[in-house]
Amino acid sequence: MCGIVGYVGRRGATDLLLSGLRRLEYRGYDSAGLAVLRDHALRIEKTAGKVQALADRVFETWSPKERSEAHMGIAHTRWATHGAPTQANAHPHTDGSGEIALVHNGIIENYAEIRARLEAEGHRFRSETDTESLAHLIGACYEGDLLQAVCAALKHVQGTLGIAVISAREPDRMVVARRGSPVVIGLGDGETIVASDAAAVVAHTRQCVFLEDDDVAVVTANGAELRNVHNVPVAREVSRIDWDASAAEKGGFAHFMLKEIFEQPDALRNSLRGRLDAGQGTAVLSGLNLSAREMASVDRVVLVGCGTSLHSAMVGDYYFEDLADIPADVEQAAEFRYRNPILSPQNLVVAISQSGETADTLAAVREAKQKGALIAGICNVVGSTIAREAGRGVYLHAGPEIGVASTKAFTAQLTVLLMMALKFGRCRRLSRQKGLDLCAELERIPELVSAVLARNDQIAAVARRFADVRDFFYIGRGYLYPVAMEGALKLKEISYIHAEGYHAAELKHGPIALLDRQVPVVALLNDVPGREKTMSNAQECRARHSPVIAVITEGDHEAAALGDACIEMPRASARVAPIPTTVALQLLAYHVAQARGCPIDQPRNLAKSVTVE
Ligand code: M6R
Repeated sequence: MCGIVGYVGRRGATDLLLSGLRRLEYRGYDSAGLAVLRDHALRIEKTAGKVQALADRVFETWSPKERSEAHMGIAHTRWATHGAPTQANAHPHTDGSGEIALVHNGIIENYAEIRARLEAEGHRFRSETDTESLAHLIGACYEGDLLQAVCAALKHVQGTLGIAVISAREPDRMVVARRGSPVVIGLGDGETIVASDAAAVVAHTRQCVFLEDDDVAVVTANGAELRNVHNVPVAREVSRIDWDASAAEKGGFAHFMLKEIFEQPDALRNSLRGRLDAGQGTAVLSGLNLSAREMASVDRVVLVGCGTSLHSAMVGDYYFEDLADIPADVEQAAEFRYRNPILSPQNLVVAISQSGETADTLAAVREAKQKGALIAGICNVVGSTIAREAGRGVYLHAGPEIGVASTKAFTAQLTVLLMMALKFGRCRRLSRQKGLDLCAELERIPELVSAVLARNDQIAAVARRFADVRDFFYIGRGYLYPVAMEGALKLKEISYIHAEGYHAAELKHGPIALLDRQVPVVALLNDVPGREKTMSNAQECRARHSPVIAVITEGDHEAAALGDACIEMPRASARVAPIPTTVALQLLAYHVAQARGCPIDQPRNLAKSVTVE
């Protein structure tokens, strides 16, 4: 996710902004930039790549006076969403006059409309970003008062934002605002530091004000005055932050993995944002770049991926067959090019990869291209190799994933796959009413995930009971079969406990020989089709003295009775249930690993991105 830093005070802003950006590097980004104000003029520097590259440019091309005599400025690390990670797309962006500069986190949903209107009025845009439309809009509203201009512009904007804005005409004050994307104001001694997270503030002050949605603040060296978008004063508490810098990077969570697990409601909201058409009961996925006729003529879908992304491919297989009526297959990306896959121009190969850099998945994309199939990528990292080479696809918009164990990317992959299957289905035989029902199910996903997160303490208590065992089994059926595999993968990679995910029916074809009192079985008994049969399989495990951890739908006493321990899920449809259920299994794995004292964010032998075969 992008990062914002702003400074106004007695010290030189430039060095302070650069050190603030360094503190936000952990969030992941692909370009950086800053703007400072000196002698009533803005000086802007931007670069693709790292903060160090930005610092090098500043130190090479700015005089020491330029660096030290600017006392106000804004800076940004950008994680590309709209437009590639280039210098032109890096923030800050300016308005038509070049006198107003803006940094922005979030997504302006109606940017295309704003841009078209302003271009028709003569504004010239210099980037592909959604953000630039807001910079121009503020400029268009400016009549000598930056606060008024920001408030006026925000009335026309839909989407999420955390912003910091400065004007060459108002040298001592900055305007910041929040709508869905965090902004914290650090109150120092004769200086004020603004940031998108406390990590960039705690080195300077621990007295902080956290903006709430639709708050706008005028920030000066002496503090901040808060208002709402209607320019009416509001009061917010000053909080004291006791985290050290490293805890602040993790937003107060003990590990990035836990932070990313808890980010899922927001990450999934971002994946869904602007993509559901409630009128037609379909999904809007412009990056797919396929006409309705082309979608209708796809006669087979092949989903490829590795690790966690392979598990989402397995769920996607069900989605495409059930909703779009298209035969679908899953291929392990590592095997794909060695098997002489039979592909035609009517086949769609869907390459799934959080990083967009996994060597085997990339090789599968190249093989599919060679054979003339249609290709679509589902990636999180914008501009990554797979996203570029696939040429079409859907970004997850889940924000950067730093923990080696993939969490929010998986649930976002399932959300995107469900939307893709809906889109293909609506171009084929899926009725409008079924499409509308599915849109309603999709909209509920963030709240279902929040309901699971609210049970974190209960799940932690279950985890502690089973933290000392050496082997685990996970069983499930239908949509929950890949979820069992994903739950087992999460556990083994971070806790080093041997874990196997099996189809519930497969257990008695061999692995049941391994069950005894020392081997717990996590049984996915959600109240969805297949529940009764999985309950019988759980009985078989109990008969071999295995402790059963029953994952059940809340209020299902019959399924609960099978468990030595229970994890309750909110009621969800069969198609959506994999998402909240996975979140519960992520928490289970996390708390087991924590009880065992494992290095959760960087497990032994594992890398975040596997770029070798
Ligand atoms: O970036 P990708 O989604 O292509 O990565 C694929 C796997 O390497 C990845 O999912 C891996 O299995 C994770 N460590 C699982 O948590």
